[in-house]
Amino acid sequence: MPTILAIETSCDESASAVVQDRRVLSSIISSQIVTHRITGGIVPEVASREHLQTLNLVIAQALEQASVRWADIDAIAVTCAPGLVGSLLMGAMVAKTLALIHDKPLLAIHHHEGHIYSAFLSDPQLEPPFLCLLVSGGDTRLVAVEGYGQYRLLGQTRDDAVGEAYDKVARMLNLGYPGGPAIDQLAQRGNPKAFPLPRGKLDHLYDMSFSGLKTAVLRLVEKHHAQNLPLDAADLAASFQRTVVEVLTDRVLRAMESLSYDTVVVAGGVSANQGLRKRLGVVTEQRGGRAIFPPMAYCTDNAAMIGCAASQRYVQGYRSHLNVGVFSRLSLQAIDDLYDESKA
Ligand code: KG4
Repeated sequence: MPTILAIETSCDESASAVVQDRRVLSSIISSQIVTHRITGGIVPEVASREHLQTLNLVIAQALEQASVRWADIDAIAVTCAPGLVGSLLMGAMVAKTLALIHDKPLLAIHHHEGHIYSAFLSDPQLEPPFLCLLVSGGDTRLVAVEGYGQYRLLGQTRDDAVGEAYDKVARMLNLGYPGGPAIDQLAQRGNPKAFPLPRGKLDHLYDMSFSGLKTAVLRLVEKHHAQNLPLDAADLAASFQRTVVEVLTDRVLRAMESLSYDTVVVAGGVSANQGLRKRLGVVTEQRGGRAIFPPMAYCTDNAAMIGCAASQRYVQGYRSHLNVGVFSRLSLQAIDDLYDESKA
């Protein structure tokens, strides 16, 4: 099995890992959360500069913790899409430079494919087909993993990502950044049926929408302020969370039933959500299936999942050109744009 040095900088985590197939030899993550808390969200320029400052150190730590030398590394993997362009560029430039200096092949990895592969890190026996629900601050999508490297996008959010909706609602309730964990905590003490909220009706079977829900919460907050009425923030958090969890669970169940899948892997930062874990766990089990929630270290952005995806591509013969670009948006269907056709 190849030994891969992986780098991930698509958003606000500078991460590096050393991976052999589904085995993680080291995984180092340097989070920028303290910096972004000051502005209440990510300023892309600031995120890029932080990557520049920390990445070399993070890579050195990953190599040291894995007890490997450059001679042991078979390839260098880096996230090249999708994400914040400035952040992606930092990782890609460092990866290309290291590939050139140490004469190693380069593998550009799609961030979503990385999230899908986080499932293999927590469950080494897992084999496709399965569903992957990706729920993070920048993405919300349901993907059918039909085989290795074979993905079918079933549905996605038409507007806000679910984590983004959590962060915005938390800001309305003055709960700080990131808002997801704060709302999740507060929701445990509230009445989830206190406020009926919209679920966003869409024609497409598996798509989702969260901007109407977010606006409905804003209107409620504004109305209570304008009329000087007390607002039970725990009830509102619980009602918001219940609505989100119902929408996500509904889309997963639709796919499981109509397409005969029995396993769903939940990845991305929102997979930490207690309400989602409980509900999806129960309903999938009732149908004889299962929901896999990888450990949080592999759910949020990390380089181990990038290395795992790269291991698979490496043995299949994929290689990327040193002039491969970075892309703020790139669908999983266009994943081959990251590889050198002659070598795949
Ligand atoms: O995957 P991730 O770490 O990175 C980005 O997408 O940037 O996801 C971060 C998102 C944030 O929006 C955060 O509020 C949300 O995940 N999040 C949660 C919880 N923990 C983190 N949302 C709901 N409930 C949680 N417990």
